[in-house]
Amino acid sequence: MSNLIRETVTSVHHWNETLFSFTTTRNQGLRFKNGHFTMIGLEVEDKPLLRAYSIASANYEEEMEFFSIKVQDGPLTSHLQKLQVGDEILVGTKPVGTLITDNLLPGKNLYLLSTGTGLAPFMSIIKDLDVYEQYDKVILTHGVRWVSELAYQQRIEHELPNNEYFGDVVREKLIYYPTVTREPFRNNGRLTDALTSGKLTRDIGLADLNPETDRFMLCGSPAMLDDLTRILDDMGFEEARGGKPGHYVIERAFVEK
Ligand code: A2P
Repeated sequence: MSNLIRETVTSVHHWNETLFSFTTTRNQGLRFKNGHFTMIGLEVEDKPLLRAYSIASANYEEEMEFFSIKVQDGPLTSHLQKLQVGDEILVGTKPVGTLITDNLLPGKNLYLLSTGTGLAPFMSIIKDLDVYEQYDKVILTHGVRWVSELAYQQRIEHELPNNEYFGDVVREKLIYYPTVTREPFRNNGRLTDALTSGKLTRDIGLADLNPETDRFMLCGSPAMLDDLTRILDDMGFEEARGGKPGHYVIERAFVEK
């Protein structure tokens, strides 16, 4: 348990019947980079039950935030979804991860491609002023099945652009592109199709994807990552690997089976 600390739940928000978010206190000593994940969990039958979760809060914020699915018989999320304000949760003290801009070659546009709870690390990244300094445009995409799964929409579209410290840079640089696959919405279809058809760049008014200018961070299911990396590789983009910066980085979203 030496790599774990106890934090206290400070708020819980249920987005719908399958998704929820919660915030916790944050130990002053816990350091992380925006985009990192850490182990979190609960003691179940006196044993720590832990899973990797991306941190959805920014590294300068006082509280930690996490975004989770709810699986009725999931070993961890069946318990986690019952969290109440005041409950304790275990948090790993060594956050890590690949979704950090240090791993990317310099570029003009940063595309954050997520499906489902893969949005979580990007909620941290879109609050990072250094990221806005490094890129002209930051494009946050979120692919989901149902409109009710578009968590954080209000925060992205209304709160961040009105933030008293960095609202102006968000309004200038952040482009939010939610897309829904199983019911009508302003954008429909999978992100993979929007990329290959050119629909994504057309819809947001940016130039065709180009390894000279465009960088990507991917976070989603294994199938989404497989398909997207194949598409990017075919377009001439290279993954950052083994300390060598590249055009894109990937991380698996937490999915409890
Ligand atoms: P679809 O409804 O066509 O399956 P999931 O909840 O299964 O992780 O899916 C989240 C979103 O990601 C859904 O909109 C889903 O579309 C989409 N998706 C699932 N698999 C892929 C994939 N291989 N590539 C791109 N998008 C995907």
